[in-house]
Amino acid sequence: MKRIAVMTSGGDAPGMNAAIRAVVRTALHYKIEVYGIRQAYAGLLNGDMHLMTSRDVSGILQKGGTILQTARNEEFKTAQGQRKALRRLNENGIEGVIVIGGDGSLRGAMALERIGIPVVGVPASIDNDIYGTSMSIGVDTALNTILDALDRLRDTATSHNRAFLIEVMGRNCGYLALMSGILGGAEVVITPERSVAMEDVAAQMGDAYVRGKSHAIAVIAEGAPYKTTDLLTFLNSKNLGFEIRLTILGHIQRGGNPTAFDRLLATRMGVNAMERLMSGEHHIMVGLNGREIVSVPLEDATSKEREISEDYYRMEHILSR
Ligand code: ADP
Ligand code: F6P
Repeated sequence: MKRIAVMTSGGDAPGMNAAIRAVVRTALHYKIEVYGIRQAYAGLLNGDMHLMTSRDVSGILQKGGTILQTARNEEFKTAQGQRKALRRLNENGIEGVIVIGGDGSLRGAMALERIGIPVVGVPASIDNDIYGTSMSIGVDTALNTILDALDRLRDTATSHNRAFLIEVMGRNCGYLALMSGILGGAEVVITPERSVAMEDVAAQMGDAYVRGKSHAIAVIAEGAPYKTTDLLTFLNSKNLGFEIRLTILGHIQRGGNPTAFDRLLATRMGVNAMERLMSGEHHIMVGLNGREIVSVPLEDATSKEREISEDYYRMEHILSR
């Protein structure tokens, strides 16, 4: 193998840069050339790729976002788009690709495999919704960002005797909501997988008031079955004791310098992905299993559901009273 390419795709996640750096430096160490594809599958279709040197990845280890940028692209989902992508890769003599991204991006990686390009995927998405890895790159940083915000909101909530609804990211997956709820001491957690009826949210918040709590916090994943604004309207129509405020954290959760955990995870996954690709392994994603970086078939990573341990829900229930 003489030349490979690397891209970051889907929603950006803190630690993507650390992964790019690890891939590029590992490839160069083994005398393999690396092309950086800018703006993911969109850039691939436009032939927007260039040779990277070790200096191109200097000073990026600690930076959020991605120097290669990212994009979403519909054309690549079509057979015609994929043939165009194959042509671009052939034009540039690229023999393998490392795709750093979320589950959608990994489905794109499967499409590359189907047209004959060896691919290794690296899971990066703050949602932690990818099967086959206990943690994806960016999750730990996002969780710390949420906790920082939650701690601040609790300060002001307590000062005013208020309840707060805090909406966090997670389109289909409640990991961030559940973990930040447990670690931030929330009274209620609402996830796409396990909703709480509005009446029950009102009951739990009203109960927190009568038990003498100085505040009440509900963490809601964006993919919950109802909108946080509707929940706010509903709770305002009840007499809970607390005044209620809503904060939607939004894209703040995606930015920022990666934590030590994310830098280490991204670095290990980047090195491991490159070493597997050059030794002939492909059609896989690298994942964290216990303390080991393992490989998972791309089919599994893209078709199976990553489930949140029942234990965390139980813990949340016990500790929130
Ligand atoms: P994420 O990787 O964060 O889950 P998306 O779901 O938006 O983000 O996917 C990122 C990109 O991956 C899409 O815009 C598209 O270009 C590509 N992609 C997603 N699903 C497929 C698919 N089934 N086939 C080919 N490409 C896909
Ligand atoms: O997949 C990660 C994620 O952060 C989701 O939680 C969220 O729904 C989505 O990306 C938002 O992405 P964007 O605003 O980039 O479309």
